[in-house]
Amino acid sequence: MNKILVSPSILAADFSNFAGALAQIESSGAGWVHMDVMDGSFVPNLTFGAPLVRDLRSKSTLFFDVHLMVEHPVSFIHDFAKAGADSITFHYEACRHHNDLISQIRGLGKKAGISIVPSTPCSVLEEVLPFIDIVLIMTVNPGFGGQQLIPQCLEKVKKLAKMRNEAGLGFRISVDGGINEETAKNAISAGADTLVIGSAFFKNSDQKGFIKRLQN
Ligand code: DX5
Ligand code: ZN
Repeated sequence: MNKILVSPSILAADFSNFAGALAQIESSGAGWVHMDVMDGSFVPNLTFGAPLVRDLRSKSTLFFDVHLMVEHPVSFIHDFAKAGADSITFHYEACRHHNDLISQIRGLGKKAGISIVPSTPCSVLEEVLPFIDIVLIMTVNPGFGGQQLIPQCLEKVKKLAKMRNEAGLGFRISVDGGINEETAKNAISAGADTLVIGSAFFKNSDQKGFIKRLQN
């Protein structure tokens, strides 16, 4: 069973001060930072690229949990690996040769993650589960922070947790979108062990207490 981890998403941070956002995350006690990379094509929004990861790398010892919401992720993994990502998560819906991409990411010495949007069933992941480090279940339609969690997505978390247990595997089950203190409880009881949290973290006046309650 994996320890519960919170991965605050800088999508909800002040874009004029990412270094300050990382400092907030570090002092909150969270060990991961979630970096939502969007290309304006796979999702209808645009955020940042590998140069931001590169420039933040030297300023932080956090685990850089990079989420590529981009078409053709194979074109980007080398740049993000070189920039200092610790894990690189791509979308099932954005590529064809998933097994190959996972081995390429691992070949770069990084943890490999695969993500599915709300309409994609977790059954499509069956053949890659033995090779993956993180499965990221989107609990909102990707592209924007501050949305409400889609409750049906937690049924997918339950199915995935069952698949993991039946196969005796240990990958992390991460949820992303609309996670706060309330919905986190339901996500954890469904089987999630990694919580991507944007708005509920950066809007929180007691980030240390928030992380402590969620991670314990
Ligand atoms: C959507 C993003 C968001 C973000 C979390 O594409 O991936 O889910 O990380 O945003 P909140 O926690 O504000 O819903
Ligand atoms: Zn994300």
